[in-house]
Amino acid sequence: MGATTIDIFDPDTYADGPPHEAFADLRRTDPVHWQPMADGGGCWAVLKHGDVAHVAKHPGVFSASLGGVVVEDLDPEQLSMMRMMLLAMDPPAHADYRRPLVPHFGRQAIAALEDQVRGICREVLAGAREKGDVEFVHDVCAKVPSQVIGELFGIPREDWERIQRWAEMSTSTQDAELAGEGDASSGSVEMAMYAIQFAADRRAAGADVDDLTTLILKTEFGDGGSMTDVDFGSFFVQLVTAGNDTTKTMMSSGLHALVTHPDQLADVRSDPSVLPGAVEEILRWANPLHYFRRTATQDTELSGTKIEAGQKVAMLYTSANRDDDVFADAQRFDIRREPNPHLSFGIAEHFCLGAHLARLEGRVFFDEIFATFPTIELTGDPVRVRSNLNNGFKRLPVSLAR
Ligand code: HEM
Repeated sequence: MGATTIDIFDPDTYADGPPHEAFADLRRTDPVHWQPMADGGGCWAVLKHGDVAHVAKHPGVFSASLGGVVVEDLDPEQLSMMRMMLLAMDPPAHADYRRPLVPHFGRQAIAALEDQVRGICREVLAGAREKGDVEFVHDVCAKVPSQVIGELFGIPREDWERIQRWAEMSTSTQDAELAGEGDASSGSVEMAMYAIQFAADRRAAGADVDDLTTLILKTEFGDGGSMTDVDFGSFFVQLVTAGNDTTKTMMSSGLHALVTHPDQLADVRSDPSVLPGAVEEILRWANPLHYFRRTATQDTELSGTKIEAGQKVAMLYTSANRDDDVFADAQRFDIRREPNPHLSFGIAEHFCLGAHLARLEGRVFFDEIFATFPTIELTGDPVRVRSNLNNGFKRLPVSLAR
């Protein structure tokens, strides 16, 4: 696919994987590229690592809130729902909301969860062991992040599967097979209703359970108030929406990357201390999210290209992560790459709140799967999600043998 012929925001462009060659062409020839869109408008696609970081570091000029964080135009109701999420807030409201949450997701708090995460991985893998042949995305990977969130928040086990399903519906709206029959927001609405009731029940029970729900309901936010049940519902949806599909994808794409690079898989198997580096390389090379969007609040310039107030600007992580100015031999998968300043968790104000949790889940998951199964083989062709945002597989047939 040539650079001049690709449509960066057409979900079908990604049917056989990201157009890495076309992105490399654009980085050389037109790194801040105007991409016309089907609706008659357009969006600036920012392809270089340095330019993506510049956009993320200037939230006053490139707003997350003005038009939301996806390139499609949202109707006013969808946009106002999105703006209630941390991901789509601007300063100063963003910092007021984020600051009190940070300690709950910090390195130390998350490190203390390792045994719980390991227990969940072992249980999920024990289920897979009985089957042997699995559809790796749904039978294995999808279960881990929703169960981790379920356990952290103290959600009853019998409800974990529903949460997994709602999460998939709300993040896969461009893929008819995954989105199901409801409208685009029905997964998030049902999940919010569930979480609002869950918070109300928890308050009514008056029990001081030792979990994240108790901590969050007690947390004081910038204006001195704590969350209402409705605020909690919205927060829960944010975490599940942001954390489920992305983490699931890190696991399935990671396994695929390692199995298709057998020398590096052998390396990981013989020396698990390389796992943290392998997780970083999986995140760089198979980043779960292609991009996030901003909107220019004023006329500005990016590496010499003029951008007008009101125009859409997309930070293309998929391209920035393979920028030769930053990564040597950038197209190569290399679990020993060091340093590895990938942008898969974003950068600056909106840097992923769940990054420590995602990294822990990745490291423990791969540690457990390689310890459990000496033989792991692909048994069919993987099928990708149809999306310009989610970069992952929806089906990955795998055989797991002891
Ligand atoms: C491999 C897994 C993950 C990836 C690739 C990922 C990616 C990202 C990215 C790129 C952003 C920045 C958005 C921006 O700049 O606009 C972000 C923000 C965020 N992520 Fe993650 N994420 C992952 C896992 C998680 C998990 C497990 C959670 C929580 C349980 C989470 C919660 C959030 C939240 C709340 C934000 C918004 C932060 C803010 O705007 O201040 N993420 N994530």
